[in-house]
Amino acid sequence: MKKTWDEWGKRDPFAAILTPVWDEGKANEFFETGVREIEEVMKHVETIETKFSDTCIPRKKALDFGCGIGRLAQALAGYFDEVHGVDITPSMIDQANRYNSQGDRCKYHLNVSDSLDPFPDDMFDFIYSSVVLMHMETKYARVYVQELLRVLSPGGLLMFQYLSRPKLNPSEGGSPSKVIKHLVKTTIPEVLVHSVRKMRYERLRQKTNEPVIEMYWMKRKKVERFLEKIGARTLSVIEERVEWPSWISCLYCVTK
Ligand SMILES: C[S@@+](CC[C@H](N)C(=O)[O-])C[C@H]1O[C@@H](n2cnc3c(N)ncnc32)[C@H](O)[C@@H]1O
Repeated sequence: MKKTWDEWGKRDPFAAILTPVWDEGKANEFFETGVREIEEVMKHVETIETKFSDTCIPRKKALDFGCGIGRLAQALAGYFDEVHGVDITPSMIDQANRYNSQGDRCKYHLNVSDSLDPFPDDMFDFIYSSVVLMHMETKYARVYVQELLRVLSPGGLLMFQYLSRPKLNPSEGGSPSKVIKHLVKTTIPEVLVHSVRKMRYERLRQKTNEPVIEMYWMKRKKVERFLEKIGARTLSVIEERVEWPSWISCLYCVTK
């Protein structure tokens, strides 16, 4: 993971984070997408606060897990006193510091381990992670989600995005061949499907010598069961159908 993302961070972090239309010349527009995304996220936070009166989230410390060059961390600084961005690659962290317009309110950390050891239990009031966990095998995503829950304060809110399934029919933007493929895949144990996927990515990397970005998914029900198992309380799950051309993505909102 580190090698792939570090290579992208050096080559073209803008394109790696969003779509290839972005480049350094459009940095302002790029960061503006973060502002708009966090605006929507904070509207949802307010809805949750209204609905679950026991969850009024303090606006002190926020964490952006997989922060890249700080697109979302900087936007979160508009709502929280202190924002910590964590990323696995030095090149992304370098760029995050370079583009930081929020001074001390944003702090960026390099973390190459599969835990969040630099942070104590219960540290953050709000944690957000978008377009990060879906790029890692589910076994790693599970470990990180458990860690994110550990560093979340009681009464705080964790929101993370993960792909839940490919789009299945033409009205969702899927094709018949995808439906068949998906049906076959769902009858095979996930661990096998992901091993094959992993092997394919490795082969592609060797063939092209390119830093291939991986994509994984986990059914919504499975994620919800996992969250329950680790002691998280799921407050809402938002299905995002527009953002991704071939996938249904879910935004999970949980407390502990
Ligand atoms: C597609 S980018 C998204 C960046 C940011 N979340 C955004 O939306 O602007 C994915 C980021 O996740 C980071 N990442 C991937 N695996 C990670 C891990 N295990 N720990 C921390 N960061 C990771 C990558 O280095 C990259 O910067």
